[in-house]
Formats: sequence, C-alpha cells, structure tokens
Amino acid sequence: MATIKPRLLLALMETQATGGRRARLCAALREAVRSGQAVLGERLPSSRHLAQDLGLSRVTVEAAYAQLETEGYLRRQVGQGSFVAIDMNTTAPRKTDGPLRLAGAVGARPGLSARGQRMVETGGCHEPERPRAFVAGSPDLQAFPTGLWRQLLQRRLRQDAASLMFYGDPQGLPALREAIARYLGLSRGVRCHAGQVLVLTSSQQALQLLSATLLDDGDAVWMEDPGYAGARTAFSASGARLVDMPLDDEGATLDAARPAPRMIYLTPSHQFPTGRAMSLARRLAFIAHARATGAWLIEDDYDSEFLYDHQPTPALQGLDDLGQVVYIGTFSKSLFPSVRLAYMVLPEALIGPLVTARTIYDGHPSQPMQAVAADFMDQGHFAAHLRLMRQLYRSRRDALLQALHSHVPWATPMDSRGGLQMAVRLPEGSEQACTRQAAGLGVATPSLSELYHTAPAVAGWRLGFAALTPDAIDAAARALGRISAHGQYRG
Ligand SMILES: Cc1ncc(COP(=O)(O)O)c(C=O)c1O
Repeated sequence: MATIKPRLLLALMETQATGGRRARLCAALREAVRSGQAVLGERLPSSRHLAQDLGLSRVTVEAAYAQLETEGYLRRQVGQGSFVAIDMNTTAPRKTDGPLRLAGAVGARPGLSARGQRMVETGGCHEPERPRAFVAGSPDLQAFPTGLWRQLLQRRLRQDAASLMFYGDPQGLPALREAIARYLGLSRGVRCHAGQVLVLTSSQQALQLLSATLLDDGDAVWMEDPGYAGARTAFSASGARLVDMPLDDEGATLDAARPAPRMIYLTPSHQFPTGRAMSLARRLAFIAHARATGAWLIEDDYDSEFLYDHQPTPALQGLDDLGQVVYIGTFSKSLFPSVRLAYMVLPEALIGPLVTARTIYDGHPSQPMQAVAADFMDQGHFAAHLRLMRQLYRSRRDALLQALHSHVPWATPMDSRGGLQMAVRLPEGSEQACTRQAAGLGVATPSLSELYHTAPAVAGWRLGFAALTPDAIDAAARALGRISAHGQYRG
C-alpha cells in the first residue's frame, strides 16, 4: 500500500485559511480522507519525515496524528506506522472489528418536506425597506425617545441583570403582560387579564403559531380580499385553503354559502389595506357566524393606535362571550420594528396549548427588551409617545392629502382616517404604467392591486407617509405630478 504524499498534505494545508499549524495539518488530514485522496489502509509518512517535508516541528506532527487517532481517522501501530482507518468509499457493510466505513448505497438526495416546500413557494414575507417616499409601513424612528429607552435599559440592567439574563417565562415577562392587559382594557376595550396575554416577537409569529396549532391541511380560512399578505402567507404555508371575502362599505362581506370556516381573519378597526373600519352590525354578524360554525376569529388590530380624527372603534374581542376571538397586537409600529415584541390575547382554552406550542418555537423574546417595554408603559411614556406620534403622523397625513390634491389629483384617497400608509385609487388600468414612471423618478409606490385575489382588483397604491417630513412628502408628490393620469411622463 502506498504512502500518502507530503505534497498532498501541504496543498491541503494551504487551503485552510485559519488556525495554527497543528489545526491546519489536522484539517488537511481529515480532508484527504474525506475526499478519498487518502484511502483505507494507506500509510502516513513518518512523523519525522513529514515534519521535515512540511517544515513543521515533529511535536506538531505527532500531536496532529494523535488527535486524528482519537477522532478515529487514523490507526497507529507501534513499530509499524500510522494508517488511514476509515473507508469513505465502500458500500460494503462494516465488520464489527473492521475499519469505520461510510456504509450503504446512495439513495435519493434529501429535500424539503411538503410543508417546507409550501412555505418556500409562498415567497416568504418581506419587511418594509428603510423609509423613503413612499415606502409603506414604517414608523418614524427619528421621533423615538431613544435616550429615555437607553436610561430605562441601563436601570434595568443595573437592578435586575441576573434575572433578566436568564431564561424567562415562555408566556412573556409578567410585568409586561400586566402592562399590555391594562393598556388594551383602557384603550381598546379588550376584556382580558394578564394571564391571557402571550408575548411574542411579532404579529407574524402569532399568525404562524396560530396556523400551526389551530389549522389542519385543507381547513378553510376566510380572508379579507384585499388583505394582509403576511397572514395569507402564514395560513397558506400551513396548508389551509384560503377563502376570499370581498369588502363592501361595512367591511368584509359575510356569505354563509362559503365553505365552513375553521378560522376567520379580520382587521376590523382599520382594514388592511383600505383603512376602513368594520361596522358594528358586521362585527356582530361575524361573531355570530363564528359561534354557529365553531370557527376561530382572529382579530389583527395592527395599527389601531394611529387613528387621527376620532377614537378608534373598540376591539371586536370585547364583544365575544364564548372565547372564540384571538386578538393580535404589535409594538413594531408603536415602538420600533426591531424591538421584536408583539402579543396575543388568548381565550382561556387556548392559553395552555399555545404557551406550550410557543416553547417549541423559541422560548420567549429578549427579557431586557420586555422589561424596558413594561417600564415604558407603566411610567406613562408609551401613552405620551403615542399621543405625540398621533399628532406627528396626523400632520403628515394632512400633508399627503394636500400634496396629492395639488400635484396628483388623479390619485384618490380611499380612506385616510388612520395608519402609517394611505391607499389611493388610480384610474383603471394605469397602475403599472404609473408605477414604472414613479420608479424612474425615484419614488416607491407599493401596489394596491396585488393585494386583491378573487375580488376585482382596484388599481392603486399604498403610500407610506408616517416616516416622511412634509417637505419630503411634497417633493415626492411633485415628482409624481410629472406623470399623467394614464402613466405618461409629462416632463
Ligand atoms: C395587518 C398587519 N398586521 C401585522 C403587521 C406587522 O406586524 P409585525 O411586524 O409585528 O409582524 C402589519 C405590518 O404592516 C400589518 O399590516
């Protein structure tokens, strides 16, 4: 049997970018065996020769050989030398006392599960780009009181570092759950106690967790059409059958002839993306239908903090007596997106199962962030911040309405009562051409029509405004004013 050439080991050592000499020689020896360049039974050069040839000390080579012997790659026999002890290429079964082998025939390549494939086919979820006109969905991060947040964090780390740095309650930090329950009771008419609150990293995680725990393959999920892509993605990835509900003036329409729902997903306070609120009569009808059919009702109250002209309608959850409504809220817009804190308010029957299921995902969000969010709420900063942001965003909403009116009269706001973005309707058939021209002018104009599925698509845009100054809003609207209603560049 031949002896492995020092040249081969030298070449393989040179491909190892990191580590000391011994580590690189070990890696070279492993690679020689793994790649089949050194085969079972082949002799290694003596440590003295290899040390000379590679310009290494003999101690280094001895140490590398000893390491690989421990790992099972080499066999060393006193007086005879060192030999490769693994057969990477054979398909013959291994004898109990024979060398280690990578045994067995080569079968089909491993791949994704059907569930994994479905998840990938959805294309995934895409968070908003950094704020610029008119990217949708961004709060104004310049206006966030980062100094105060830092102080609260420092104080917490001074006082509670030991407990905050350890694992936390999978349901969420009790102080934060208390603060959320209080806030939701006072501001949103949600009827709950802290024991029903489950703290998560995002609404998206809530949707994913609900899909995994409440939906089986083929279950019907009723969705608003147009509706929130993140929810569609989570439900369809789980194998559910999506059933579209077109909208009318009162919100999503209810048609008992549709396949019986296992789940109904609604954004009743501020419909995504049109911005309309669902009428009380329609809310009651949905609750009655959920009761009659045994469906879960998911209320995504994603940006109810930002209604500008009047108080938001109280949450639908407050009307539910049978415990079939799951309420979802997020701090992504009301604090900042990377805080990664959101929550669900669960009916009593779901608390145990969902907290257990949650532990399989990721345990809990960052403890220090939860603690700071709890202090921020308890000390009144959250309410003050929201008041300030409502004023700021209201003035930006007004600036956008004014700028559209002056420069882009062919873009008609659908509903501008709240939110961080405004859906506008464009002349029929003009969305693509107008969007192309807008992109050429450096203005992002997220599509409205792509959020429609079976309902006839409305040509339009979702214009994000909350993170833009009035000047930036006006400049971008002026740029859009160079486009005609049918998407021609007018110069
Ligand atoms: C309807 C709706 N729900 C939830 C979210 C986002 O929440 P999160 O960042 O917590 O996933 C958005 C963001 O635009 C939304 O439009």
